[in-house]
Amino acid sequence: MPNLPLGIPSDLDKYFFNRKKELIQLNTFISGFKQNVANQILITGRRGVGKSFLLMKFRMELPENVLSTYLDLSKIHGMQKGKITEEKVMHGLFEEMLGSLENKDPLRKIYKLKDSLLKKLSAKNYDFKAAGNLLGIPIPQVDDDYEKLSSLVMEFPQKVVDDNRENIDGFVIILDEFQLIGEFENPEAFFWLIRSYTQHQDNVTYIFTGSTSATSEIVEKINGAQGAFGGRMIQFPVEPFSEKDTYDYLKEMISEIKFTPEGLKRFYRCTGGYPSYINSFCNTMSEGRTYNSEMVIETFYSKLDQIAIMWVSIWATLSEYEKEIIEILTEAEALSWKELLSKVDYSNKTLLKYTNRLKNKGILSHTNKRYAIEDIMLRSWLKYRKENDGYYPP
Ligand SMILES: Nc1ncnc2c1ncn2[C@@H]1O[C@H](COP(=O)(O)OP(=O)(O)OP(=O)(O)O)[C@@H](O)[C@H]1O
Ligand SMILES: [Mg+2]
Repeated sequence: MPNLPLGIPSDLDKYFFNRKKELIQLNTFISGFKQNVANQILITGRRGVGKSFLLMKFRMELPENVLSTYLDLSKIHGMQKGKITEEKVMHGLFEEMLGSLENKDPLRKIYKLKDSLLKKLSAKNYDFKAAGNLLGIPIPQVDDDYEKLSSLVMEFPQKVVDDNRENIDGFVIILDEFQLIGEFENPEAFFWLIRSYTQHQDNVTYIFTGSTSATSEIVEKINGAQGAFGGRMIQFPVEPFSEKDTYDYLKEMISEIKFTPEGLKRFYRCTGGYPSYINSFCNTMSEGRTYNSEMVIETFYSKLDQIAIMWVSIWATLSEYEKEIIEILTEAEALSWKELLSKVDYSNKTLLKYTNRLKNKGILSHTNKRYAIEDIMLRSWLKYRKENDGYYPP
């Protein structure tokens, strides 16, 4: 049986496939650093399409003179439960930025201050005199004002570049699972804050990425006409593998699994070209048989729990409200707000809270005023379990 990774493997190069065009494009977006031109980028795409893996690879291949920081917002304590604050994100960001200086020789002196700086942050004692002298940033004295903290963190990357011009041209900051910012009391304010700094920073590129559709509310808030960046961000959707890519990937990664031409087509249709599903499906297949269309379908249904493993684990983290909304929409395909409200026995406000949360998790889509669960795998898995067990997974 093949053993393809279900998460992001530590040996990136061994498993990373193609995405050559995407990498060229991303590199073009940051090619202006030397001329003091920085773009801001928004990368969208459904769950499991390969956004994070692509960005890891991009980061690994960045030229020597470009610094980078990667922060996965879902890893910040409390984020998944909706108990997240701007302040925690700023802390996380600062910690990662400092950490990314470790292996750059002239910047190690700043890196070495990391522990003492972070200790001060956690004590909410924002006295950065020592760092301030080193970085030349106007540093807040003893103060627990969020504005001062954010100014330190937001000024930091441009300052690092300015102080090290001979070695460093730019700083790339990747914020993954950024859709969770939707859980803030005021997501707009956070985006406006970042925008207010980036517009004066010529060597800092922020890449926001997360599982959200290009038309979601959070995308509107950050880059819509009324949003903080007002359409100035470069929006870049990551698409699933094409049919041909899928076949080439299978040939390269698991040549031991054989398909008939119809079997191959069916496999592509079952996975939609999503690398996460391709991998989990492949891991259920065996050598020594040639999969035709019927065998692919049979394997798909008999191994659905394994193939949809990503959703099995996400399902376990959802609240009863969230599960109920998903179940309703699995039965109904797509519903307006009014229709959806009529099917639950709680208030407008509660429904709003949980539909928003599902949207921010990239599970619920809202297009043309209709709510739907678009992910084929999640729907297939739920329908199949309902048909077989008589009820939805608990
Ligand atoms: N270019 C690729 N080559 C090979 N495997 C890939 C590629 N892109 C993604 N994968 C595989 O697909 C899976 C999902 O990738 P990844 O985590 O990057 O998706 P994502 O879009 O970030 O998903 P999420 O929205 O859930 O964070 C991983 O197991 C990864 O190994
Ligand atoms: Mg990801």
